[in-house]
Amino acid sequence: MSKLWGGRFAKNTDVMVEEFTSSIAFDSRMYREDIAGSIAHARMLAKCGIIESGEAEAIIGGLQEILADIEAGDFSFEIGLEDIHMNIEKRLTERIGPVGGKLHTARSRNDQVALDTHLYVRKELAEIARLLIELEQAFVETAQKNAGVIMPGYTHLQRAQPILFSHHLLAYFFMLARDFSRLQGVYERTDLLPLGAGALAGTTFPIDRHYVAEQLNFSQLYHNSLDAVSDRDYILEFLSFASILMMHLSRISEEIILWCSSEFAFIELDDAHCTGSSIMPQKKNPDVAELVRGKTGRVFGHLMAMLTVAKGLPLAYNKDLQEDKEGLFDTIDTVKFSLTVYASMIRAMRVNAERMLSVVRNDFSNATDMADYLVKKGLPFRQAHEVVGKSVRYCIEQDKWLMDLSLAEFKQFSPLFEDDILEAIQVETCVANRNSFGGTSYSQVGQALETARQTMGKQ
Ligand code: ARG
Repeated sequence: MSKLWGGRFAKNTDVMVEEFTSSIAFDSRMYREDIAGSIAHARMLAKCGIIESGEAEAIIGGLQEILADIEAGDFSFEIGLEDIHMNIEKRLTERIGPVGGKLHTARSRNDQVALDTHLYVRKELAEIARLLIELEQAFVETAQKNAGVIMPGYTHLQRAQPILFSHHLLAYFFMLARDFSRLQGVYERTDLLPLGAGALAGTTFPIDRHYVAEQLNFSQLYHNSLDAVSDRDYILEFLSFASILMMHLSRISEEIILWCSSEFAFIELDDAHCTGSSIMPQKKNPDVAELVRGKTGRVFGHLMAMLTVAKGLPLAYNKDLQEDKEGLFDTIDTVKFSLTVYASMIRAMRVNAERMLSVVRNDFSNATDMADYLVKKGLPFRQAHEVVGKSVRYCIEQDKWLMDLSLAEFKQFSPLFEDDILEAIQVETCVANRNSFGGTSYSQVGQALETARQTMGKQ
């Protein structure tokens, strides 16, 4: 295969080296961006008088035909042509003749690949934003649909205090909303035009980078050509955003997996979102949640890999940077797929409200409220804590819950107890009384739902 850069070489490239250095197997997915970037570049070259306008027209026409061929599956990508940029350029010249060779005037593959990747990431960020909003919506709707459902809240995975199920769901909503705002930051720093940096130092031709930026809808330009061809910060930021998002999804997955176990039985996933066992006929496994939890590992891995690739590189372009793409693309695919299946899984899950309530009634989750009751009657909190601790121990010995105690029994532990104690430690009261801002009370959660809706309205 003759090379676009073959002039200096007396010998053909070793086929093994061709295969090793080629990126076409994965960068072909940027063909649209490569063509859009080339069209903008050709227009700019003509506008600046660097090529004739008829030449630009021929180039643009040829590129559009190539685009149609690729979309029709009528284009064979060659490993020997290394990457998407040279595959398209070579085909262009075959189609329109030597004038095709003018397209690469005032451009290098270094700024070309940077442009393509910026365009690609920018486009995918918009799609991921849309999917993230869908998932946020699924959490808000499920929280709303289950308003009033009480569940045990946990610390150390031990039952701690009663909470609203919707409060738990909204916790995840707010995490996802921060992920969304991180994504907006990534978008802002991806929306930067690198083209015009040339190989590293700019170009001797009188180009107009602002005109290219305008055509491709970039709000800013890189101010430094070395930075433009070397920067992979936006990829790192995207991978960091994706890692944090996947970490959140993984935590939710862990809970979903627990909740649909027979031990918890708080929820049931829809049959459509589970798979069976090839040997155990009774099984219904939460594979989606497990896989999202599992796939989190590869996204973290891609972040680590990219940080490691970038850390020792001298300015400006180095071939190491070609390693930025596979992890990036895999992360984009993984995040999009995970968000999509998750939203439908959350929407379709069934919530077992009676089970959650009966669990929280049959435990000591109301112990803090019993202590708070005594504090409100004037006992210092530390003493109240001691009194309730003793009551709990007594209950465990007697095989009772706090709600089972008679007033006489309560009074054995403190004379401050009166007959309003049972009302004070009912789970509904425990929930209603946690009315501090951001707490689990009915009214706080109602306000949080409203805030969630407003947050989404601004996204
Ligand atoms: N395939 C290369 C990459 O992904 C394109 C840039 C190559 N530039 C070069 N001077 N070899 O980074």
